[in-house]
Amino acid sequence: MAADAQRPPPGGAVDPGYYVRHLDAISALERVRGYKRRTLELLGVAPGQCVLDVGRGIGDEVRALAQLVGSSGHAIGIDVSEAMVAEARRRAAAEGSAARFETGDASLLPFLDGYFDGCRADRVLQHLEDPSRLVAEMARVVKPGGRVVLAEPDWDTYIVDAPDRGLTRCILNARSDRFPNGWVGRQFPRLLRSAGLVVFTVQPQTAVHTHLAEADAVAILRFSAARAAADGVISAAEAEAWIAALEQADRDGHFFAAGTLFIAAARKA
Ligand SMILES: C[S@@+](CC[C@H](N)C(=O)[O-])C[C@H]1O[C@@H](n2cnc3c(N)ncnc32)[C@H](O)[C@@H]1O
Repeated sequence: MAADAQRPPPGGAVDPGYYVRHLDAISALERVRGYKRRTLELLGVAPGQCVLDVGRGIGDEVRALAQLVGSSGHAIGIDVSEAMVAEARRRAAAEGSAARFETGDASLLPFLDGYFDGCRADRVLQHLEDPSRLVAEMARVVKPGGRVVLAEPDWDTYIVDAPDRGLTRCILNARSDRFPNGWVGRQFPRLLRSAGLVVFTVQPQTAVHTHLAEADAVAILRFSAARAAADGVISAAEAEAWIAALEQADRDGHFFAAGTLFIAAARKA
């Protein structure tokens, strides 16, 4: 399962440097690299094609796509955050990559109908109030036969082995509900079919975390407990006790958490 901080999107109040470090920490995890490779395989990219990555963040996959399409193709990343686009451009220039990055909103993609051979969105729909807008836009900008690939967690699948079952549910449910769409993973087939696309695979990718540090990078457990306390869902003492129990489990070698990210791929008829 890939992670996301439940904070305003970059470009808002959050320090963009924090968000870049957060995305880098997640992308460094082998399991995350594995699911991202799978999304690129499902796009079925060939040299000479035009491909789009929406909500691109720091741009790693756009640079990978630029290599796959070669000098006769185009790989474009779009993100609402100017800070993210600037960082993605800086990294592409440092690598000599032909990847292109533009600033724009996912709900109105600034591209002609049928322009792309493939389009992907990775951990973006969970941040949108109306994910169907982006999926419809992705369907619009791909050409007939083109592919749309999505990857998102379903945050209600995130489980943690902790002593207090009710408290654990309170913290994790509050965390899931703070996303505009923490359930988007389970909605993929419906969203894609409603946009007129033909779904050809939906794949779960479950990540198991046996160290608190990894779970905290992915699912920001400490922040989530503190936030649940700040929101009055639980008391500050309960938040402290919950984290203390997780830290003890980690020291004892018993820490266990897991969550599922879904990948879906569809084609335009
Ligand atoms: C969790 S990050 C994921 C980044 C990248 N896709 C990855 O997998 O590393 C979410 C990204 O979506 C972008 N984003 C959020 N809302 C957006 C919108 N309405 N339009 C375009 N991008 C958006 C954010 O700026 C951020 O870079």
